[in-house]
Amino acid sequence: MISRRAVLLGGAAAGAAGFAPSALGRLPTSRDTLPKSAPVRRLALAAGEMEAPLLGPGKPRTKGVCTYDGTPFLTLRAPVGTRLQVDFENRLPDPTTVHWHGVRVPYLSDGVSPLTQAPIPAGGRFSYDVPLPDPGFYFFHPHCDETGQVGRGLVALLLVDDPAEAKLGFDAEHFVIVKDWRLDADNGRWLEMFTDEGASTSGTFGTVRATNGSVTPPRVEAPAYGDVRLRVIVADNTRTIDFGCDTEDAAIIAIDGQALPPLLLSKLPDEIWRMGPAMRLDVHVRMPAPGAEVKVYDYRTAEPYLLTTLVAVDKGRKKTSFRPKALPPPKVPQPDLKRATRLDYLVQTAAGPIVTAEPLPPDDPLAKALIASACVGSRTFWAINRNSWGAGPDLRLPPPLMTLRDGDSYILSITNVTKHVHPMHLHGHIFRVLSSSKKPGIPPYLADTVMTEPNETVEIAFRATSGDWVFHCHILEHMDSGLMGWFRVL
Ligand code: C2O
Ligand code: CU
Repeated sequence: MISRRAVLLGGAAAGAAGFAPSALGRLPTSRDTLPKSAPVRRLALAAGEMEAPLLGPGKPRTKGVCTYDGTPFLTLRAPVGTRLQVDFENRLPDPTTVHWHGVRVPYLSDGVSPLTQAPIPAGGRFSYDVPLPDPGFYFFHPHCDETGQVGRGLVALLLVDDPAEAKLGFDAEHFVIVKDWRLDADNGRWLEMFTDEGASTSGTFGTVRATNGSVTPPRVEAPAYGDVRLRVIVADNTRTIDFGCDTEDAAIIAIDGQALPPLLLSKLPDEIWRMGPAMRLDVHVRMPAPGAEVKVYDYRTAEPYLLTTLVAVDKGRKKTSFRPKALPPPKVPQPDLKRATRLDYLVQTAAGPIVTAEPLPPDDPLAKALIASACVGSRTFWAINRNSWGAGPDLRLPPPLMTLRDGDSYILSITNVTKHVHPMHLHGHIFRVLSSSKKPGIPPYLADTVMTEPNETVEIAFRATSGDWVFHCHILEHMDSGLMGWFRVL
């Protein structure tokens, strides 16, 4: 991987030439999700490396921790309807890009190298146009050597606030960022993030678990009998959790930032919500009496793993009965299910780089950009409908899974025929999860990433918006070893 990258670095600049008309015909035009008159907030953002005590106090410190603006898990906040104009600078020693996960940005700001931009070389800059049309809880991360860079911490939160939510009267907001560290416990050095054994199975796990970067589960205070808005995200490369807590007074009020009628955790099967990498939840938790605690767990492991403890402190509030707060309903474009075109996809294992349809001709600018990119994996273990995202030295961009029409509605039926879970993410869209063959009875909800279990078929629906958009598993080693395809929407 390292040597391949070194070889490719010299060619990275050539990738910039890739954004010319391709063999597939004309390129999509970017569509804006905000009016031209939207207020603009200009901000500088830099990715870089730092040293941090990841193993905890008194233990060897870790070098090469990747952060934005020198802040682990940086949090940006802006009101809905704002346009962020981000002047990004790459201070990492390697190429990177920024992907605004779940945000409906124009595709040329989607950060997918090499499909929508060339990798930003060390010391390079790129300017991103990031309209924020939908309130909610989003995040951003690189889309170039994600396994390595996200693995070392390069994840930031993006909160798009709706002023209408202020009157809901939450007393506190707390974050639960699930992200393990993959370190040698003796010296604090990073271990290899990509392993063939992991990439070809459920992914390579961290060696130490952490919440909000800390190996000791955080304890935070909130007013007794008060209302807490918990913002939970799985920012790990690999780990899937079964989110739950030890109180009945808790309800999911948003999934992937999109509001839904509150779902009481106690009414869900096993009283948990399964969350794979990239998934977010907003949970309304009612605090108990002064001195009592609410414990938030991952119940997926044999022994429940304590993620965070909320401690109730007396602030003079009186006990009232719990009524979950409903957030304002989302306004994202909805699919027309009666007119939708149905497309079926299988998530499979790959015996090798198998591309059944004709790949792009090697002299196609997009194919050249891909080959010149330093953002690609070196092995192929997975496929979607027998097509794997290119990898290795003879890398070629696979053809799009399908060319879609801007404004038309589509239903994707996704069947996982592997032995492992795959959280599938579609760029550029917020889709409706219509059904699952394994979880009957869950009402439809909006999301940008959906879990598919072994032998499960999940149906999602969306209204297509113009652009080149990838569709991939968010277990990062899976996407780096073939589990990614793309749609062209014209
Ligand atoms: Cu958060 Cu393409 O991913
Ligand atoms: Cu996967």
